[in-house]
Amino acid sequence: MENMIKDIDIIREEEEKSCDFKVTADENTGKIKKLYIESYGCQMNFSDSEIVASIMKDNGFDTTSDYSNADVIFLNTCSIRDKAEQTVRKRLSQFNQAKSENPELTIGVLGCMAERLKEKLLEEEKLVDLVVGPDAYRDLPNLVGQAEAGSKGVNTFLSREETYADISPVRLNSNGVSAFISIMRGCDNMCSFCVVPFTRGRERSRDPHSIVKEARELFAKGYKEVTLLGQNVDSYKWSPEENNKARLNKKKAGVSEVIYFANLLEWVATIDPRLRVRFSTSHPKDITDEVLTTMKRYDNICKYIHLPVQSGNSRILSLMNRTYDREWYLERVQKIREILGEDCGISSDMIAGFCSETESEHQDTLSMMDLVEYDFSYMFYYSERPGTLAAKKLADDIPLEIKKRRLQEIIEKQNQISLSRNQKDIGKVQEILIEGQSKRSAEQLKGRNSANKVVIVPRGRLKIGEYTNVRITDCSSATLFGEVIDR
Ligand code: SAH
Ligand code: SF4
Ligand code: F3S
Repeated sequence: MENMIKDIDIIREEEEKSCDFKVTADENTGKIKKLYIESYGCQMNFSDSEIVASIMKDNGFDTTSDYSNADVIFLNTCSIRDKAEQTVRKRLSQFNQAKSENPELTIGVLGCMAERLKEKLLEEEKLVDLVVGPDAYRDLPNLVGQAEAGSKGVNTFLSREETYADISPVRLNSNGVSAFISIMRGCDNMCSFCVVPFTRGRERSRDPHSIVKEARELFAKGYKEVTLLGQNVDSYKWSPEENNKARLNKKKAGVSEVIYFANLLEWVATIDPRLRVRFSTSHPKDITDEVLTTMKRYDNICKYIHLPVQSGNSRILSLMNRTYDREWYLERVQKIREILGEDCGISSDMIAGFCSETESEHQDTLSMMDLVEYDFSYMFYYSERPGTLAAKKLADDIPLEIKKRRLQEIIEKQNQISLSRNQKDIGKVQEILIEGQSKRSAEQLKGRNSANKVVIVPRGRLKIGEYTNVRITDCSSATLFGEVIDR
């Protein structure tokens, strides 16, 4: 999940590189105190840091990118795999030095690791002053105040309602072109390998009016792309009865609306045809034909679906409690191709070496990759997480070297498929949105096509935030190269 290209994919890769994280940018609005936030994990965690920065800003803090200047350091943490937690622990020990030089410094652990470990974290990591879970961020100013007065604080209350709908996030490390909007929180699926339902709590959808308002405001500020975020966006469901009693009271009795994800997508897409709309993550069990036909109807809804399969084998999928099987998944992919065509980008997450996975079941994952032809994937080997269904009921019995070998085979397969998918783009004309400078050269800019692929183009007279048509001339497995054709 890495870097300032504010891109969910890149950001997810960052999570895997153990030392990568996102840091708050400097913001100086004349506040007395300085806050430094380091964020790990998924895009939703990064979005939460923007909410945290907003709450703290209203309580006297500007953000800083240099922790040695900070009065308060927050680590917004991830628990998804053991490695993610180890990284945070290492980082905390590095902050020991800062704390010894400045005993007034307040150090807080936020996010999923805070939620998972609660009070235990204060015992294990002595320098930590605060442990605050993802639904308790409104309490941060109060807890920071207590910590400054010398008492350590924990708030890991998980809410059924909190969506931070009224909080206007402070955009951190933004490229000014694309932004992320959280549309829901939590997860009600119980995938047996996954810690998220325990760390983020019950699924709840955010008021669509507040989502549309946020997207409108971003567009008015010059943003050209929004990504709607949730662990499972297809189960987005909002109704005044369930989600907002206050709004219901204002309406006539008996008149009610239920907003599903396809409706929300349409609302956001109609803000302006020059505002691109993306979303992530889609769960294969829930993605509906209606979502696909809505995507088809609007050019500005990007033709790209992140549809994590996890495994290509039905027995393993059942052990994972994914609630779909290989055939169901392939039918959904066929439907995507039928409605949105061959060019629609499809990506996946894959777990190698889940409990009891045999060699031939692993081969099913490889053959699934051949059948779907994913444009790219995030690939992991299984890491047992305490408290999950798999940890309770299944033996983590695939030796590490076998997990790693299977993962390597998956990665190699993906690289071949990514290259051949990209080669099919050569010669095509595609519209891209310019997002920033290419890492390689100041003479080149990078943009993204509808299918979420990075396209490198000569800078010419192009500006960041502009749409342009390009002809794809070359590619690698990770990137397309193009020439501008409409100027
Ligand atoms: N809600 C998303 C996934 C969120 S977590 C979905 O359902 O697809 C992102 C990815 O991390 C998962 O898709 C899975 O591939 C991976 N992951 C989750 N738990 C894991 C574990 N215990 N070990 C290895 N990978 C894991
Ligand atoms: Fe985890 Fe499954 Fe929920 Fe995704 S859908 S967050 S993998 S429990
Ligand atoms: Fe990690 Fe929590 Fe996201 S466990 S992947 S930060 S929801």
